Amino acid sequence: MQVVADPAEFHRLCRGWAAAAGGLGLVPTMGALHAGHLSLVRASRGRDAATAASIFVNPLQFGPGEDFARYPRALERDCALLEREGVTAVFTPAAEAMYPADFATAVEVAGLSERLCGASRPGHFRGVATVVLKLFLLAQPARAYFGQKDAAQVAVIRRMVRDLAAPVEIVVCPIVREPDGLAMSSRNAYLDAAARRHALALYRSLSVMRDRYQAGERDPARLLAAGRAVLEAEPGVRPDYVAAVDPDSLLPVAAAGPGTLLAVAAFVGPARLIDNLLL
Ligand code: PAJ
Repeated sequence: MQVVADPAEFHRLCRGWAAAAGGLGLVPTMGALHAGHLSLVRASRGRDAATAASIFVNPLQFGPGEDFARYPRALERDCALLEREGVTAVFTPAAEAMYPADFATAVEVAGLSERLCGASRPGHFRGVATVVLKLFLLAQPARAYFGQKDAAQVAVIRRMVRDLAAPVEIVVCPIVREPDGLAMSSRNAYLDAAARRHALALYRSLSVMRDRYQAGERDPARLLAAGRAVLEAEPGVRPDYVAAVDPDSLLPVAAAGPGTLLAVAAFVGPARLIDNLLL
């Protein structure tokens, strides 16, 4: 496995693999890898001739006062995990290499970027879209792998790819959970034992909404009230949003139905966590 920090060198390497039969798969990450990330790598390994992963804590997608400085970093451990998974190359650029001092360009997916997490994290999805397009241009993968865990991110990237005709297939992989239901996240590292227990309220709130839906409830206001009540009843949990939206437009649905995205975000101790499910 090659570990490459220089963008130009990463581009040269990827050009070589992209030409190979089966094409190149790209798995963009911010590191502190867990089984959710590795599920994306395995999906690519099962399909692509070569797999490149990126590990880059992208400063553009963090707002002032967010956790950029303390975001978990574990480069050596991450590289060992990726090597074991048979990854061909890992791209680990420095921020200055991705964003020179006079970097001036941004990708804005208007509208979508202001919904769900975008509403409470202004500029977040602009930072995501900008870095992901840059990674696509550097690696020129046939396919790129993303987790359903970040459902709004998937919507933003799909729209960007369609709008700009980026020649890459977006593959979305299911949410990987801990045995008790907590969605795996690098940010779970912020949770102490008590907060870890409180964090289960996110999945519980989704489960309550799904149960109500399966029992016949279609009114989003009633479903969301039930989900929000679960979060509000949990000590140490402060809900950010509870939403029932169309997964492509991220706009609220008038009635819940098959394919509706139920999404929650909440502050749990020092962490802001998200989770979702598709009805
Ligand atoms: P990061 O949070 O490291 O996640 C990298 C990829 O792993 C994303 O596509 C995310 O949806 C996926 N992922 C995270 N937890 C998962 C889980 N429990 N199950 C399945 N997939 C999971 O998302 C980002 O980084 C960044 O925004 C990035 C796309 C790399 C751009 O900087």
